[in-house]
This record gives sequence, structure tokens and C-alpha cells, in this order.
Amino acid sequence: MTSPAGPPNPQSNDTAPITAGGSNGSQLHDAFGRPLSDLRISVTDRCNFRCSYCMPKEVYGAGFRFLPKPDILSFEEITRVAGVFVRAGVRKLRLTGGEPLLRSQLPKLVNSLAALGADLALTTNGSLLAKYAQALVDAGLSRVTVSLDALDDATFRRMNDMSFPVNAVLDGIAAARAVGLPVKVNTVVQKGVNDGEVLPLAEHFRNSGIPLRFIEFMDVGSTNGWRPETVTSGREILERIGTRYPLHPVDPNQRGEVAERWRYADGAGEIGVITSVTQPFCRDCTRARLSAEGKLYTCLFASHGHDLRDLLRDGTDDADLTKRIADIWSARRDRYSELREAGQARHDKIEMSYIGG
Ligand code: GTP
Ligand code: 5AD
Ligand code: SF4
Ligand code: SF4
Repeated sequence: MTSPAGPPNPQSNDTAPITAGGSNGSQLHDAFGRPLSDLRISVTDRCNFRCSYCMPKEVYGAGFRFLPKPDILSFEEITRVAGVFVRAGVRKLRLTGGEPLLRSQLPKLVNSLAALGADLALTTNGSLLAKYAQALVDAGLSRVTVSLDALDDATFRRMNDMSFPVNAVLDGIAAARAVGLPVKVNTVVQKGVNDGEVLPLAEHFRNSGIPLRFIEFMDVGSTNGWRPETVTSGREILERIGTRYPLHPVDPNQRGEVAERWRYADGAGEIGVITSVTQPFCRDCTRARLSAEGKLYTCLFASHGHDLRDLLRDGTDDADLTKRIADIWSARRDRYSELREAGQARHDKIEMSYIGG
């Protein structure tokens, strides 16, 4: 583990402070001293894929009720609330979904958010990236992260459960690169489903300039059939790749980085592992999440969010909005992944497709 924060402490109880490092007076800090520096904004709860670990068809089939349009924050509301967060010290904004490119005219939102001056990233399944890459870069997007769980077409089609071909996503990645958008690729590894794709993916992205990050399959939500045996650990992934292509650890860029980074000894680029199951990183978690309907979640595994939409729609001014956000963040004590490791996980969690990864 290369994190400067050291290994997690599964023994710690809920009142034990999490050591804060590099605190910055201009930011809000939670009950454990963790600054609020990232905001992830879900712009839609819909997706055109039905990955079984996220939106299984049995649950998200024809009868599923997605958020009705009037309940979803408008671009003006999102921009306003994001501005409040940026002025409160947030430096990274990430647009997520569902699939964010399904939201009509997304580049318009990107254009307004880019004016806030924060790092502005997008997480996408890549299916519509070829179509929108140019408009996104023109609008001021800083970078894009594409989810890609397999290179093998049959495996990819099976995993997205919509028979969507992998080549269309690879074309999306190429289109993003062609217009100068920096790209990262994220792969969720599920044992027995796509762990055989680890080496082919690593080989595909070696020498491409695209960092590839493997994510341990997590127990987000309550519909994805997670069991501890379905996790391929980051260690195992590093061993598989490192045996073939020797790897060296890379120092983290900044506090709160979720991926543990490694570089190929032969200079072929970089990979990462996101080990939120086997090596939780809650002690450095600086992320807040805003759902498409304007609820603020202080943990990916939270059971409830704090409604900001009413404040945005009832004439509350920015100062009071800031105060509400500061109150929520300062009371925050979330550290779900550490509690899971300590065997104290709860079961009433929101779904990943609702809050974005
Ligand atoms: P960069 O700014 O590019 O470094 O992005 P990032 O790595 O912070 O975000 P990204 O969305 O790429 O995160 C990758 C994956 O890590 C997500 O899809 C989640 O599966 C997982 N992840 C991100 N943030 C958290 C978190 O706060 N808690 C947990 N448990 N997992 C997270
Ligand atoms: N475990 C880990 N990552 C997940 N994602 C979705 N569900 C899970 C899960 N159960 C990630 C996907 C995608 C992002 C939107 O969320 O990798 O990149
Ligand atoms: Fe798959 Fe991402 Fe869509 Fe979930 S939001 S179904 S992980 S593509
Ligand atoms: Fe942050 Fe919650 Fe993830 Fe821990 S489990 S890293 S507190 S989002």
C-alpha cells in the first residue's frame, strides 16, 4: 500500500478520530478532520446498460420507476449548487450517472461548470463518447474516465446485458483521445466473471498513455449479488500483472486518491488498483455526492441523503445553502468500508446507479 495514511484500522470504533493530514483552512472539515474537496454530481439515474452488478434487469426492467423529470435538478440548479461547493473549497467536480451522456445537452452543463474553475471530469460507460467527445472538450471538460470491464466482445456484451459491442466503447476512447481529452479506464473485477480479462486489458492499455485502474467489486446497494468470494483483490491483480510485467509503486499525487498507482518497470505506462474492500481508504475520503434529484450523500454506502433541492427551489440564498452544506459535512462520521472490514456493515444502502460510482 503506498497511501501515506498507512493501513486502515478495522479495530477503531465510531468515535475514534481519523487522522487528517494536509488540512487546508479554506475547506470544510468533517468530524474526523477530512476536508471536503471533491463533489460527484449524478445527472441522471438512467443508463443504457444493465450491468448485473449495478442495474440487474430483474430490478431495473420495464416496471422500474426512474426519477420523473421535474424531480431532477436543472442545469441552472446544478451549476448554482456546484458553485457553492467550489467556493467552499471543492477542487474536483465529477459528472456521473447512471450514464451521464444520456442527459440531454450535457455539454451545456459542462460549459457552465467549467467556468467555476475546478477540475471537471466525467465518468461514462463510453457508449456515446464517440458522438460527444468533441462537444465535451469544446465545452471545457478536463478529462474522462471510461468504465470498461472486458475486451472480449462476448464477455463485454454479457456483462452490459444489452449486447452492446466492445468496439463501440473502444471507438469512444479513441475519439476522446483524438480530441485531446485525457482518458482513464476503470475495470470492476468480479471473480469468475471477468477476472480472466485482467491481463488482456493490461496488455491492451500498455504503451497507450491511458492509466488502467482495476476496482475491487464492492457491496454497493442491495441488488448486485455481492459476496466476499466474488472479490478479486487488488493484491491478486497486481501479482497477475506483475509476474508478467514487473511493476514499481508510484507515489500518490494527492491526499484522498482512491487508486494505489503502479508503473511498468519497462516504461509502458501506469496501472492502479482501487482496493476499497481489502484496504479501505475512508480515513482519507474527501468526497461528497449529489444525486440527480438534489440529495447530498456523504458516503457511497449511505442509507439516506440530505435534500438540497428544496433549498434550491424555495428562495434560500447562497449563504444559507453554504451553511446547510457546512453543517452536514461537519457532522459527517462515515467510514462504511472500514466498518465492513470490521464486520459491522449495514444493509440499507443506496444503489450505485442512483448515486454514480
Ligand atoms: P480521479 O480523480 O481520476 O483519480 O478519480 P477517482 O479515482 O477519484 O474516481 P473514480 O470515479 O475513477 O473512482 C473509481 C471507482 O472507485 C469508483 O467507480 C468507485 O467504484 C470507487 N470509488 C470512488 N470513490 C469511492 C469512495 O469514496 N468510496 C469507495 N468505497 N469507493 C470509491
Ligand atoms: N463495485 C465497484 N465498482 C462499481 N461500479 C459500479 N458498481 C460497482 C461495484 N459494485 C463502478 C463502475 C463504474 C462506476 C460508475 O461505478 O466501475 O465505473
Ligand atoms: Fe453499468 Fe455504469 Fe450503467 Fe451501472 S451506471 S449499469 S455500471 S454502465
Ligand atoms: Fe468514503 Fe464511504 Fe467510501 Fe469510506 S466507504 S471511502 S467514507 S465513500
